[in-house]
Amino acid sequence: MAKRFPENFLWGGAVAANQIEGAYLEDGKKLNVTDVLVGIMNQPDLKWNGSKWEPALVPNKKYLSHEAIDFYHRYHEDLEYMHQMGFKAFRTSISWGRIFPNGDEAEPNEAGLKFYDDLFDEMIRLGMEPVITLSHYEMPLHLLTEYGGWLNKKMIDFWMNYVTVVFNRYKGKVKYYMTFNEVNNIFRMPFAAGGVLDINPKNTERVNADLTMQQLYQATHYLFVAHAKTVKLGHEIDPEMKVGCMLSLSHIATYPYTCDPDDILGVVDHRRKHYLFLDVMCKGQYPGYVKRIWRENDVHVEMSEDELNTIANFTSDYIAFSYYRSTVYHKDAAIRVDTGGSAGLNNPYLKETSPEPWCWPVDPKGLRFVCNDLNDRYGLPLFIVENGIGLDEAVDENGKIQDDFRKRYIHDHLVQVQESIEDGCEIMGYLYWGPIDIVSAGTGEMRKRYGFVYVDRNNDGEGSLDRYKKDSFDYFAKVIASNGEDL
Ligand code: BG6
Repeated sequence: MAKRFPENFLWGGAVAANQIEGAYLEDGKKLNVTDVLVGIMNQPDLKWNGSKWEPALVPNKKYLSHEAIDFYHRYHEDLEYMHQMGFKAFRTSISWGRIFPNGDEAEPNEAGLKFYDDLFDEMIRLGMEPVITLSHYEMPLHLLTEYGGWLNKKMIDFWMNYVTVVFNRYKGKVKYYMTFNEVNNIFRMPFAAGGVLDINPKNTERVNADLTMQQLYQATHYLFVAHAKTVKLGHEIDPEMKVGCMLSLSHIATYPYTCDPDDILGVVDHRRKHYLFLDVMCKGQYPGYVKRIWRENDVHVEMSEDELNTIANFTSDYIAFSYYRSTVYHKDAAIRVDTGGSAGLNNPYLKETSPEPWCWPVDPKGLRFVCNDLNDRYGLPLFIVENGIGLDEAVDENGKIQDDFRKRYIHDHLVQVQESIEDGCEIMGYLYWGPIDIVSAGTGEMRKRYGFVYVDRNNDGEGSLDRYKKDSFDYFAKVIASNGEDL
């Protein structure tokens, strides 16, 4: 019997405000966290003025996200492309700073609210369900420089103020929300993934140079409280609303290099760094293994009974996650983290990596592994809200962009999504990452292109911003039109 995708499967694509919109200081918006970064893996351009951090944008440095692909002004055209592919859903984020430019105001910025009103109306008009991330690696910079971001408990109130305004304003338009994009990367990228800034540093040369585990676990706790309160509020405002957590779960596809028990236990430890976020946001409990880490490292997270009750009672409605790659753990080898996930040793059983210079291993079965693992562990609906491949591409002499590699990548991953559904996983949808070329999050380049639609802009920021369909455009349209029967 043919394997089928569910009838209401949400096919589509995903982007993030700071990588696509541009207009970084328009209509009242002020600097965001990502505005002072070229890529989220870089140091932010902040300088210490003797008493606090302040923005220090470097003249002539290429902050491509400041203009990005100008989606802010061109979204009608871009959504039309998505519509032509038959998208049933489109994921983007709200730039918190458009709604509250400093983050601590009492009243929102109407121009920002209006922009998203119009954007969501257009998606709905084109038959796309808006799937909205409330914070995708960004927040008003002022909240970090003034308060330290999530190191400060006041953040929960600023956040709830923002979320209350958003939930009320878009009630009836937006059903699917997720809170913090890939918040499980906070330990490796505290500034961008965690929204954390040490505002009492000893080292004033380098941002967050001496952050402690105590600080990071405390910030994580505040994020957990904010997540649970967001779920609670969402259900109160609109019982139809679904609020998910959003995590980078390529990390779970970390395989042991050998059957040496130390490799096996090393993998257990590595995965737990990420399960922690799921365990708290989906099961509502701090797991025993983290309490051991706290004991052994003299970490004392301040938390009240009330907060723990909120965390226990208001868990995620679904798990949204990104999956790009897998990696291999060996007890004597270091593991790095990038936007694709964990990067340890190469896997000799995988045949391919993406081309230079990024060379991410291609492991479609890793996606099936992650889906099954999550289903067995949490039993919640799963939403694949990022999967895709970044390639260095150019228009050829015939005016075409041939991207067979991408078609194959999608095909192979969707086969594994189908297998996962057969295995019994409830999968809500598949949102391809970056359906139109956008600025890469990790390195801040245009050259790393994920799209079905090519955008004429290069790493120097030059180009007409014209859009062109790549070969994969028709391929993905066919997949959606057949509800995945014609892969
Ligand atoms: C995810 C992020 O980690 O990976 C996206 O949520 C990001 O924002 C994507 O763009 C791909 O990473 P990159 O660095 O290739 O853009």
